[in-house]
Amino acid sequence: MGFAMDAAILVIIIVLTAPTTRSADVPCRTFEEIYPSGRELCEKMFDDAFVYETNLSKAFTMWFFEAENPNNKVAERLGLPSADDCHLEYFHKEAPGPEPDNFTECHPWKDYSCCHQDTVSSAQKIKEAYGKEWHWDRCGPLSSACERFFVQEACLYECEPNAGFYRKFPAHVYNESDPNHNKWQIEGMPIRADYCDAWFRACRYDRFCAVDSGSFFSCAMEYAKVDNTGDDGVNAGLIAGVVVACVVVAVLFGTLAYFILQERKGQPVFNKLEA
Ligand SMILES: *[C@@H]1O[C@H](CO)[C@@H](O)[C@H](O)[C@H]1NC(C)=O
Ligand SMILES: *[C@@H]1O[C@H](CO)[C@@H](O)[C@H](O)[C@H]1NC(C)=O
Ligand SMILES: *[C@@H]1O[C@H](CO)[C@@H](O)[C@H](O)[C@H]1NC(C)=O
Repeated sequence: MGFAMDAAILVIIIVLTAPTTRSADVPCRTFEEIYPSGRELCEKMFDDAFVYETNLSKAFTMWFFEAENPNNKVAERLGLPSADDCHLEYFHKEAPGPEPDNFTECHPWKDYSCCHQDTVSSAQKIKEAYGKEWHWDRCGPLSSACERFFVQEACLYECEPNAGFYRKFPAHVYNESDPNHNKWQIEGMPIRADYCDAWFRACRYDRFCAVDSGSFFSCAMEYAKVDNTGDDGVNAGLIAGVVVACVVVAVLFGTLAYFILQERKGQPVFNKLEA
């Protein structure tokens, strides 16, 4: 019967065109299209966590090779006390201290770190630690040159004792019953301008989430929405499509039945046009 065939085709068409929320709906662009320069990359990507600082004597670095952490001298110049408490609470230790020899991924902080080896044992571990919505490669794999900077930033955040001085809601401000407060966020930490510029050069042609001028926080919220609609939204979209298609087909069958009934009663809905 032709009608059944038409109905089946209709279902397929509706399912295929049903609105779906997919990762693809979260826009991706190259770093160079998202951020005008290293300044915006550092200041925008992590909301207000970092400040692009051109006076290098007053700016922290996200990586180093010296035996002694150069950020300690910076902190001293900025009038900060010596960091003997981690202050931040994500995966952080309470107080900084040494890590074992297998602490290689974030090696600069091995002797005095706020992170546990177990938290930062590999780039993969770091990438996956905060949930799927925080994966930095959701616009496709990053070049290793670019990805390295994300690892370094995570090492700074988890391991650098001086980062704790920049907690957004420090102990004297933090209000446990205020839902907007937290113990993990940092704000206004001055970062070396040349470090930010290097990050920009390394990632220039890589792709990243472009939501809200490349705010990683806004991006993560978008991805969380997408993830909550099912496996990349495809399942939820498919279900919605099938439901819509079934309703349409049911209405069509109902209408057809009505026409047939009326015809049989001798009261055709469509009278032949009088010539
Ligand atoms: C950089 O900061 C240091 C320390 O605050 C200050 O003494 C110096 O004058 C600054 N340099 C420039 C070029 O502003
Ligand atoms: C690293 O070394 C510590 C102490 O020697 C050990 O407990 C831990 O399991 C090691 N971790 C890894 C990932 O090898
Ligand atoms: C803490 O936050 C709660 C909820 O927002 C508020 O009612 C209370 O006044 C705050 N306490 C202080 C000391 O600010």
